[in-house]
Amino acid sequence: MSKSPVARIYRGTPRNLTFLARCLRAGELVAVPTETVYGLAANALDARACRKIFAAKGRPTTDPLIVHAHTLVQVEAIAEINQTARRLAERFWPGPLTLVLPKRPAVPAIVSAGLPSLAVRMPSHPLLRRLLKLAGIPLAAPSANPFGYVSPTTAQHVQDGLGKKIRHILDGGPTRIGLESTIIDVRDPARLRLLRPGAITLAELERALGQKIGVANRRDPRGKVSIAQLAPGLLARHYSPRTPIVLHKKLSASGAGSRHEAWVLTSKPAGRIAPNVFWLDARGELRGAARRLFAMLRRLDDGRFKRIHVALAPGGGLADAINDRLRRAAGR
Ligand code: TXA
Ligand code: MG
Repeated sequence: MSKSPVARIYRGTPRNLTFLARCLRAGELVAVPTETVYGLAANALDARACRKIFAAKGRPTTDPLIVHAHTLVQVEAIAEINQTARRLAERFWPGPLTLVLPKRPAVPAIVSAGLPSLAVRMPSHPLLRRLLKLAGIPLAAPSANPFGYVSPTTAQHVQDGLGKKIRHILDGGPTRIGLESTIIDVRDPARLRLLRPGAITLAELERALGQKIGVANRRDPRGKVSIAQLAPGLLARHYSPRTPIVLHKKLSASGAGSRHEAWVLTSKPAGRIAPNVFWLDARGELRGAARRLFAMLRRLDDGRFKRIHVALAPGGGLADAINDRLRRAAGR
């Protein structure tokens, strides 16, 4: 019997960063922290390296990757930036916003799943920025989880899910935002489309541009383009724990039933709290709720509970992003 080696978790020392940058340049995979969730990174200009991402995650090659860049000059080399993209980049980069742009030929087809477009973002996590600078190449990186499971927000989550499939994990601590980036298709400035809600909200984007932005639904309002064509990976059931999730518009601690079921509220309830009642943020703040959501779903997904009941987050903005992930987790 051969023991399968387990990925090593590296602290972000200068020596480790230099080593991991060299691994990336040599075509190896490295799991990296971002401000949103952990990503599984490879050299975006190396088709062979990127193929390893799909293999490690068990991800279908029809689901395109997001490319992470260090500078706008680097973005220009892989995608075509228009005026709208430039304004959004100036306002929100580095940060949790992904722009879908026309792809340049330098990027191999596997990265965009054969699409003529490319999803690009400039992450703000300081360790990843240092790594990107040292590596000197753009990095393709989807979330660092086995395909279909909840995205990882700590280095340990990555090790739990992919520890036997990869060798290197850079530890940047728990991620600050906890939900994947907002994705907007900006190829046609007259028909902007939000493909995935995130911490940068629709209202913020509209304010930055002084313009309305369409929201891509499963069935496009125009009835011609489906979200499957717009953002291939977004159709599938996603972010799902094994334990079934049941969503509720309203949930209170007093409504918590069977101890074989977990009840997750947005804020901490008053009074005596049963051991099967949990909350995302003591004061019900949405940023805290977003940051802890995925870790909570993982923690409750250890077989203890038959079902996980979760309250939908109240309001719009960040609540839209939280509820989007909850609906996917519930497989709706
Ligand atoms: O915050 C994030 O975006 C994280 C971190 C690691 O940066 N990445 C991430 O990647 O969440 P992930 O696993 O969600 O996969 C990227 C998704 C695809 O499933 C697809 O929906 C969309 O981005 N996407 C990628 N390329 C696209 C394209 N050319 N057109 C439309 N959507 C695209
Ligand atoms: Mg993902």
